[in-house]
Amino acid sequence: MAQSTSDLRERLPADCQVPAHIAIIMDGNGRWAQEHGLSRLEGHLAGREATHRVVQACDELGVQVLSLYAFSAENWGRPGDEVSGLMSLIEDALAQELDDLVGAGIRFIASGRRDELPVALRQILARAEARTADDDGMVLNLLINYGGRAEIVDATRALAYRVQAGEIAPEDITEQLLRECLYAPGLPDPDLLLRPGGEMRVSNFLLWEIAYAEIVVTPVLWPDFDGGHLIEAIVEYNARQRRFGGVPGVE
Ligand code: FPP
Repeated sequence: MAQSTSDLRERLPADCQVPAHIAIIMDGNGRWAQEHGLSRLEGHLAGREATHRVVQACDELGVQVLSLYAFSAENWGRPGDEVSGLMSLIEDALAQELDDLVGAGIRFIASGRRDELPVALRQILARAEARTADDDGMVLNLLINYGGRAEIVDATRALAYRVQAGEIAPEDITEQLLRECLYAPGLPDPDLLLRPGGEMRVSNFLLWEIAYAEIVVTPVLWPDFDGGHLIEAIVEYNARQRRFGGVPGVE
């Protein structure tokens, strides 16, 4: 963001299409820390550097939306010092990077149940959203205290209130109407779901939205992840044939 990275675009094969929306489960900070004889929090700090690199790389490659899983609704079950450390880390990172986000024209949004987050973090999330609201570059969607099931429950509840108020009838509820009640209804669904760290699961991430995402899992731990790994994932994505339940060549 601050300074442009080198030649990422040139490293992407010419026939490769950049996914419009990349969603990343940033996994492996703890294992990376263990491998380096460091604390889990130091692993998350190294993960923060990878986050910076990848935001910059996606911006440079022309990705339209980047969704990053920073803290899941289930992560509250971690040791208290890791949870509070992560909250401070995310707060500090946003405070430090906000000017660069603005400078790069990146629009920041946060998705998740933010009323359960510390006040200072909520404030910086709101400040970042407000300062970047008119930016028309890449959208950076930070998922924090986010759960895919919770998001669907929240959307269902919003629709139930509308039925109760007599605004809509139960039979008016469609996929489109439910989608409009998700946390970030204006965003296109992810094209590429990327999971560093090697685990073959989706971990309650964007359950509705990833219905037709291509999943790429890499063993690289998140703190080691860089633009080159991103290019590799995009190349693998391009080798996939996306059918959306249809038959190739048949409209
Ligand atoms: C999962 O790794 C990672 C997290 C729960 C935290 C992700 C947060 C960051 C990468 C910090 C940067 C965020 C921003 C917004 C600057 P893990 O701890 O589960 O790793 P493990 O599976 O190896 O234990």
